[in-house]
Amino acid sequence: MKDSFIVFGEPDIHEDECQEVLDTLRSGWIGTGPKTHRFEHLFAQYLGVPEAAAVNSATAGLHLACLALDLKPGDEVITTAMTFCATVNAILHAGATPVLADIDPNTWNMDPNDVARKITSRTKAILPVHLAGRCCDMQAIGDLAEAHSLYVIEDCAHAIETQVNNLHAGTLGDLGVFSFYVTKNVTTCEGGMVTAKDPERLKKIKTMALHGLSAHAWQRYSDRGFKHYLVQELGFKYNMTDLQASIGMHQLKRVQRNWSRRKEIWERYQNEFTQLAQVPSPVAHNQKHAYHLFQLVLPESQETTRDQFLDHLHRSGIGSGVHYLCLAEHPYYQKALGWHPSQTPNATQVGRRTISLPLSAKLSDRQVNRIVDTVRKLLVALQSR
Ligand SMILES: Cc1ncc(COP(=O)(O)O)c(C=O)c1O
Repeated sequence: MKDSFIVFGEPDIHEDECQEVLDTLRSGWIGTGPKTHRFEHLFAQYLGVPEAAAVNSATAGLHLACLALDLKPGDEVITTAMTFCATVNAILHAGATPVLADIDPNTWNMDPNDVARKITSRTKAILPVHLAGRCCDMQAIGDLAEAHSLYVIEDCAHAIETQVNNLHAGTLGDLGVFSFYVTKNVTTCEGGMVTAKDPERLKKIKTMALHGLSAHAWQRYSDRGFKHYLVQELGFKYNMTDLQASIGMHQLKRVQRNWSRRKEIWERYQNEFTQLAQVPSPVAHNQKHAYHLFQLVLPESQETTRDQFLDHLHRSGIGSGVHYLCLAEHPYYQKALGWHPSQTPNATQVGRRTISLPLSAKLSDRQVNRIVDTVRKLLVALQSR
């Protein structure tokens, strides 16, 4: 039997999700409604917070989180150079200026010492990203925020299970934003969730996510009679639908089981590749890692570029990812903001040699063995050149 291609980040969808989606389709209410509300409640319960706001992506959530802080043009938000473009785009769309901090070469998360160096009189917030599911140094970031009266927005796109001292990521700063994109640890196909320490901010986010309409505007087509809605703010169309929530409700039930499976695979990779490439550093004893990504940093090689390595993997039937090219490598930011890769050298160096291996909870032992054998062979070949 020919081995099939291993898709990077394949979602783990079960019959429960399928049945729930069908139930929603047949219910006559497929937009934002009772299931979205229930998913918000379940997610808040999971995090141990009073409430949460469902949105249609983490990108939308990050945008609303920035807007909820009333950032003004000229205000600066410090974030990491090693993240997805959505993180800085949200800051820009909110009218503020993103400033990049370099990463710690051991954890690949934002380096608080570089954050401290980047703080100016215009800095209003710090936006840490818990890369791959590893918690940032929230003690150091919190201390800086307190000393300089700054807000903290946590980008928890990779961090649904992340904890430090038994506290969930997303509840440590002023606001937290989660992603349920297709490859994420819990998926709704597209979707996101926002948490906020201040209930007034969360209320504003909920209003802004649906055109700025008065609360519960989504109920206006219910069988309880027509409800007038009033525009309270200039909002956006960022609401989650019941179809998305139908998937998320059941995904959330398997969050622990899937986490355990990914942990097993992550630790296997960690052991197998530790002599052959830079692997993620051990998880700190007071942290829970979300095991969203397994990244390797390839050794320097004149002969084999990172992209050739990715091609070899692809030709062997293994999908992979890059998380991430340093943000300062992208032409738009270079033109618009004057960024240059040399300004964040650690992120640039890691970003040019990193690859991410498949880590879906759906992977069979046979597939994991195939990935390990293929990557080992490629890494050994790199070393012997
Ligand atoms: C670190 C990070 N932030 C933000 C996002 C945006 O998430 P979404 O696709 O839900 O908008 C992603 C998505 O991949 C991400 O990886």
